[in-house]
Amino acid sequence: MLAWPLMRNNIVREDLDAVIELLRRDDAMLTQSSNVREFEREWSQWLGVKHSVFVNSGSSANLITMAALRELRGGGEVIVPTLTWVSDIASVLQCGFDPVFVDIDERTLGMDVDEVLKKITKKTRAVFLTHILGYNALNDRLLEGLKKHGVPLVEDVCESHGATFKGRKLGAFGLVSNFSFYYAHHMSTVEGGMVCTDDAELYETLRMLRSHGMVREVQSAELKSKYQNRYPDLNPDFIFAFPAYNVRSTELNAVIGRTQLKRLDANNQRRTENLKLFLKNLNPQLYRTDFAVEGSCNYAFTLVLKKADQKFMDALMRTLKDAGVEFRRGTSGGGNQLRQPYLRKRLGDDAWKAYPKVDHVHFFGMYVGNYPDLERERILELCELLNKVRA
Ligand SMILES: Cc1ncc(COP(=O)(O)O)c(C=O)c1O
Repeated sequence: MLAWPLMRNNIVREDLDAVIELLRRDDAMLTQSSNVREFEREWSQWLGVKHSVFVNSGSSANLITMAALRELRGGGEVIVPTLTWVSDIASVLQCGFDPVFVDIDERTLGMDVDEVLKKITKKTRAVFLTHILGYNALNDRLLEGLKKHGVPLVEDVCESHGATFKGRKLGAFGLVSNFSFYYAHHMSTVEGGMVCTDDAELYETLRMLRSHGMVREVQSAELKSKYQNRYPDLNPDFIFAFPAYNVRSTELNAVIGRTQLKRLDANNQRRTENLKLFLKNLNPQLYRTDFAVEGSCNYAFTLVLKKADQKFMDALMRTLKDAGVEFRRGTSGGGNQLRQPYLRKRLGDDAWKAYPKVDHVHFFGMYVGNYPDLERERILELCELLNKVRA
């Protein structure tokens, strides 16, 4: 038995002690306060952006990002991946945009850049890209194409904290970016997410959207008085600018985030070494080993069959189950999103057929956990087990 869970030890003694220290105070403030502010400041510094907004999940980060775009730039189309988490597409739909789907690039598992550029029209309001399981999905062609067309990039980095493109962290390229701190990710606040941007107007809008659309959340005194002067009949503390949400987090989660952040880079370095060792020792006749690892930072070992072979896939899943290795089929968020009921209802039962590359990953792709304390021998043992699988 290899006894290999998807994630292990992601919240440790040091994090729990930090929470206990906060709880020992007689007058401990637990709702969003100074620890949230400090976590946002430290995160912005780590990422290399001006502003961050801490929320209660990565899905909430997706939601208020799309809501802010809708408020500031109006409706239209948003280009989205076929391989991503449900909340990326759900937030687009919930905010009244029309999603335009793009198949994957098999080496990055992100969107096929040529297809993205081909699908840009006058109606495109954003490209909402996901960096899948630690692989960078950006390249110069995409960034230049978006700049040329004046289309903003939104980066979902929920699965790729610390991954880079040309030495700069993912999440620092787009107009806005989203992170998740769910337990199974590179770092965790139990539940949590972050929205990051350099854009001051977007930042203020995100702050309001996080807290009921309330103007008192705004940082700029000028913007605040603009609202107050325009609506003198309202109590300045209760001006609601947008029909919004309450997606705030708490001091308890922020304290965990602050101690976690201190360990993130060292943990990520271990994870990167682990993935390289894994891919190097995997049989390239059976599995894809040519993923775009430059700048990658993965909490998972991606396992995609070279050939569409159901018997082999069945044998692989049996082998892993017998060895106690937890895995997720479909790689990220339920595989090809167009096969999911929430999209079939809108787009019909056949829409998935237009995206054959993601469909291969849907049926013949999976991932297993990659955590910092994995020993070299265990990784080699896993590779040996995988290389021995026969249909
Ligand atoms: C790419 C991506 N976006 C968004 C999310 C949503 O994050 P959360 O689980 O924190 O809501 C996830 C989920 O895990 C994800 O993988």
